[in-house]
Amino acid sequence: MKLLRSMLFVPGDSEKKLAKGASTQADALILDLEDAVTIERLPVARGMVCDYLKQHPRGSQQAWVRINPLDTEHALHDLIAVMPGRPDGIVLPKPLNAQDVVKLDHFLSALETREGWVVGSTRIIPVATEVAGALFELNSYVGASNRLAGLTWGAEDLATAVGASTNKDEHGEFDFTYQLARSMCLLAASHAEVQAIDTLTVDFRDADRLHKDVLRARKAGFTGKLAIHPDQVLPIHEGFAPEAHEVAHAQRIVEAFAQAGGAGAVQLDGKMVDKPHLTQALRLLQLAKRD
Ligand code: COA
Ligand code: MG
Repeated sequence: MKLLRSMLFVPGDSEKKLAKGASTQADALILDLEDAVTIERLPVARGMVCDYLKQHPRGSQQAWVRINPLDTEHALHDLIAVMPGRPDGIVLPKPLNAQDVVKLDHFLSALETREGWVVGSTRIIPVATEVAGALFELNSYVGASNRLAGLTWGAEDLATAVGASTNKDEHGEFDFTYQLARSMCLLAASHAEVQAIDTLTVDFRDADRLHKDVLRARKAGFTGKLAIHPDQVLPIHEGFAPEAHEVAHAQRIVEAFAQAGGAGAVQLDGKMVDKPHLTQALRLLQLAKRD
């Protein structure tokens, strides 16, 4: 599956934002039925999201839907309402572990069958760190479902869950608990062989913050990031494109190995480079190729 660099949240009950979302270059929209929509507006939002999906045949931009958590009375109603629009995938908030993904997988199979879609075609991305207990169960996602396309993490709901008054330290960086959640999500995604998608940058007017966050995410191994405002989309794409000097360095590593006549370790600028560096260089060159 194509890697999703940017996934832009769009409140499911906003005509204006749905239209604006479609005009952005986000790789995927996440039409939201959860936190961005009040309970009173939920029935209207479900109808609007389904209409949007039907009226926007997928071209270069995917359309996902964030439903309500599976332990609420809303989740099944959300799914029943939006599946006729054939979303590319479902973003699942607040799962405790992969059992929720397996349950969602079964619901989707039933609804895909009802609609006549290919069973298994709707993908799933859980927001894997929004409840405290989830941190202890991140290993469960390995092999849970063929629908699993990625793992992402949430710092806002996790802070609420543990009774924090903020998730940032005095320098504006994530406090340790949230850095831990971020790293655990990255490791769990890598272990499950799915895309690691970094959480959103909440200060959407702060371009420097976003730039820093995206660079750090890419260097850590994340290949995508959540967005909440259209202005965040292009900086995210730019940030995930490796810089020219990184591409040049990666090419030099590949060339050094090509000239080494089968040696497993070579030297470059006085530093040892071996197999993991070659793998990293090849991956970076691959990332540089994506548009
Ligand atoms: N998707 C699509 N369009 C959006 C958007 C989004 N997430 N966020 C803003 N826009 C639109 C606005 O409607 C506005 O359109 P206009 O130029 O036609 O008037 C334009 O982009 C500029 O928006 P701006 O005035 O800068 O922000 P705002 O005050 O309208 O909205 C937020 C700020 C935070 C409320 C808005 O960005 C938002 O709703 N984000 C998503 C929230 C969400 O889904 N949360 C759940 C996941 S955490
Ligand atoms: Mg939330």
